[in-house]
Amino acid sequence: MRSPIGIFDSGLGGLSVAARVLNTLPNERIIYFADNAHVPYGEKPMDIIRGYALEITQFLINKGAKAVVMACNMSSASALETAQKRFPEVPIIGMIEPGARAALSVANGKPIGVLATTGTINNGAYARTINHLDAACKVVGQACPKFVPLVESGQAESEEAKAAARMYVAPLASEYCSTIILGCTHYPFLKRAIEAAAGSSIAIVDPADEVTRTLAAILAKLGKTSDALASPHEFYTSGDTAGFASIGSAFLGRNIDAVQHAEWGIDLGELSAVSSQHSAGGCCAQKS
Ligand code: DGL
Repeated sequence: MRSPIGIFDSGLGGLSVAARVLNTLPNERIIYFADNAHVPYGEKPMDIIRGYALEITQFLINKGAKAVVMACNMSSASALETAQKRFPEVPIIGMIEPGARAALSVANGKPIGVLATTGTINNGAYARTINHLDAACKVVGQACPKFVPLVESGQAESEEAKAAARMYVAPLASEYCSTIILGCTHYPFLKRAIEAAAGSSIAIVDPADEVTRTLAAILAKLGKTSDALASPHEFYTSGDTAGFASIGSAFLGRNIDAVQHAEWGIDLGELSAVSSQHSAGGCCAQKS
């Protein structure tokens, strides 16, 4: 019951989901993993992302996670079903289906726009999922390759971010989208710029709300809801710990005082991580 919830992303983006989970479920403890060694995921092939996602899921389960949230749309699009089959004992929740449901609930039959990484847009996961729920709904995707590097470098409020938001939102507005899904967990940190570009007639949907509701319902159903915060949250990055702690604290809205480095295995490089996607072994050796 008091075991942690594992949450992961390519970097800081998943903290937008972690923040929602911690605010909504204050008795739950989290283990957050940021794959800063590989961020940005955006332009990388989906089979590579799937390999990373499966290894990280294994890492979090090895650390005792009672549930895992793939707080990364690319991981969710490429690896959710495989991970659910590989780790049937642990509930694993992705971003796409909750995001699609949330958008449809406000779209009112009008087109839905999706802002996401190149990988998520090319994969078509949002369009497929939305059209599975409502075949008549028009879905317009827009890849936003500039966004993640801006967020990771702490420039979410910059003029460059505002200009990028205007550039990416314009094609969705011209297709009469009533709703825009933030289809990458980094984008809630650009919400101000995106809202300013979209204007007040377009609803901005952050899937994190629905993901958190789904997580809470699953934990309750399994009788795994924690009744008290037993020990501190844990944060891991495969990249630089100091950088993650300082920007991450601002993004999470609470102090991250300890970040541990988790090294992709000494014997497993990036290619091995991909080729190991069919094995169940974890690759993240922890260094303190
Ligand atoms: N935040 C991730 C997502 O939701 C990936 C961003 C990236 O690294 O490109 O897809």
